[in-house]
Amino acid sequence: MQVIAFLSASGGVGKTTIAAHLAYMFRREGNNVLLADMDPSAGLSVTLLGEHRVLELEGRGRTVGDALLRFLRGNSVEVSDYVVQAKLGEFAVDIMPSGDLLSDAMGSLWYSGNYPSPELRVREFLERSGAHRWDVILLDTIPFYERRYTLTALYTADKVIIVTHPYGSEPQRVKRMYSKLAQAVRSGIDIKARVLVNRARVGTAEAEHAMERVAALDVPKFSTVIHERVCYSGIPQMECFTGRGKNKVKDKNAIGEVEKLFAELKDWLSVQLTLG
Ligand SMILES: Nc1ncnc2c1ncn2[C@@H]1O[C@H](COP(=O)(O)OP(=O)(O)OP(=O)(O)O)[C@@H](O)[C@H]1O
Ligand SMILES: [Mg+2]
Repeated sequence: MQVIAFLSASGGVGKTTIAAHLAYMFRREGNNVLLADMDPSAGLSVTLLGEHRVLELEGRGRTVGDALLRFLRGNSVEVSDYVVQAKLGEFAVDIMPSGDLLSDAMGSLWYSGNYPSPELRVREFLERSGAHRWDVILLDTIPFYERRYTLTALYTADKVIIVTHPYGSEPQRVKRMYSKLAQAVRSGIDIKARVLVNRARVGTAEAEHAMERVAALDVPKFSTVIHERVCYSGIPQMECFTGRGKNKVKDKNAIGEVEKLFAELKDWLSVQLTLG
């Protein structure tokens, strides 16, 4: 079981989108993949399952928040009881959907005083609740302005992908978040976290300048850069890969970028395995 978490300083930078695209790649290689939605607004769940289905699962107490609350109360939990299948292009992928109750679970975890080391409990929850049957768990969450979520994801994950775009104050915000996270884990942040630039627009002076500012950041980065492309919006259909869906876009460059990112990610994961 390898847990990969997607973090960001700001909202809307592409965490959910990149998580879904990498899930597609892992599925394509035949891996057992679980998408864990740790965003109480359930962006990933709604995108993949639809609002109606997510409401139904919330109503039946079948979200990650329900599972986590049960676990925190000392009950035994099976992650698979809280997992449903979603369509991702031509594949099915397992997803543990989110919902409002995740806020309650996180509040209880972090503020009740009943749980020592709250940041470690979600990893513990996964390890004790049968999550080892998945090869890869991709954990999507909300931006750093809600620190409990970011810290929980940081401690739950084996690897962390910090998604960013190069514009405005974003590079400084990433830098700031990175140094705060480095303090939180004390050592090894450079082994655990890497920055991924998404939504880069090439060709304009503004974009070139923006990329220079990101390049100047003293943080580990993926060499792959993902560009701004229309077809990234079509997550369930994965139009970039399949060429189907309403946009009918089959963008070879986009596929190449995600494949390159995936290859880099696998190298990074295997380094960790060799180091034990
Ligand atoms: N490379 C890209 N090119 C074009 N559009 C993109 C790209 N990456 C993401 N998007 C679009 O940007 C929007 C925000 O992306 P997404 O929801 O993945 O961000 P997020 O970081 O998960 O946001 P939040 O913090 O709100 O959860 C979506 O509409 C998505 O389709
Ligand atoms: Mg999101």
